[in-house]
Amino acid sequence: METLRLKIHASNPDSEASRRSIEQAAKILRAGGTVAFPTETVYGLGANALDAEAVQKIFVAKERPSWDPLIVHIGEPSMLTRVSAGTNANARQLMDAFWPGPLTLLLPRSVEVPAVVTAGLSRVGVRMPAHPITRALLQAAGVPVAAPSANRFGRISPTSAEHVAEDLAGRIDAILDGGETTHGVESTVVDAGPDGCVIYRPGVITREQIAAVCGSPVTLREEMREEDEAQAAPSPGMGERHYAPRARLVLVGGEGPQQMQNLVQALRDHDAAGQSVGIMLPDSFREAMVGHKAKVYRWGRWDDAAELAHRLYAGLRWLDAAGVTAIVCPMPRAEGIGVALRDRLERAAAAR
Ligand code: TXA
Ligand code: MG
Repeated sequence: METLRLKIHASNPDSEASRRSIEQAAKILRAGGTVAFPTETVYGLGANALDAEAVQKIFVAKERPSWDPLIVHIGEPSMLTRVSAGTNANARQLMDAFWPGPLTLLLPRSVEVPAVVTAGLSRVGVRMPAHPITRALLQAAGVPVAAPSANRFGRISPTSAEHVAEDLAGRIDAILDGGETTHGVESTVVDAGPDGCVIYRPGVITREQIAAVCGSPVTLREEMREEDEAQAAPSPGMGERHYAPRARLVLVGGEGPQQMQNLVQALRDHDAAGQSVGIMLPDSFREAMVGHKAKVYRWGRWDDAAELAHRLYAGLRWLDAAGVTAIVCPMPRAEGIGVALRDRLERAAAAR
């Protein structure tokens, strides 16, 4: 199948040509086709969420297993009642605070949403994106759009149209090219029950931000699993290798000078083992490179977690494309969006 490239001009998203691209993408969605599009987090691969046959095409293109549920994207609050059978006070407070934005809420699924979208689960993940192109597309389509990240299953999420094309060209109907995404990591997935909020996947909206709004305790699903593995319901898409480069990912812990020393040691070990090494190198770690010949991706300022998030997936893809066999990467601190960065890096480094 030929994949259409539809351009949006970032400098002029309201131009006639940009508008035509959005209209054409919306038409493909309404007709049951698949379109990759930018959001403020990562690119998604969308299809009409109310059309089981269209949604099935997403699973085929991504080679995604049918047990992994999809997030449904809505363009306006009025669309919520079509996809969800109800909310509660906690969920509504989170919507008021963070929608439109990078927050996905697990809500009771409406009868209109086919089972293939949620992998048979009784709850559906819903998100209202903030990106102006995504909003324009959803409004033009007039239907809720199911969309996982637009990468092959298990691989690195795309933050540009080029990344999408690498993984999915020839497998989907169109790519709406709106340039680089803003945040660079995915939305926070939250189950906002009446007794408290559970973070299923850490993301752009931080635990602190959720706690400030949710009038009840906030837990990370990972912590629950450790405490009570037996009671926790199965959590699709968690725990296995995900967001992964082809090269082996080597994570370097520690803090301050200790982390620098650990990084130098990791580079030495891999040089000695004759590996072709790449490094995700924050500015302040530059002196670790003295005397090493690793392929360097300049990651950004170590104290600017938003910048590290924005460039994380592009860096992993770039080093992969350079053909390295190992990627050495210092672990960011577990603060704010750093929690999401650590989560993705740990999954990316998990055993094959
Ligand atoms: O930022 C994002 O969330 C991006 C953009 C495109 O919106 N989407 C995204 O989708 O990252 P995906 O499919 O790559 O990741 C969604 C995660 C999966 O781990 C999935 O298992 C979980 O959310 N999820 C979705 N629906 C769920 C449900 N009903 N119950 C539990 N987990 C769910
Ligand atoms: Mg994904």
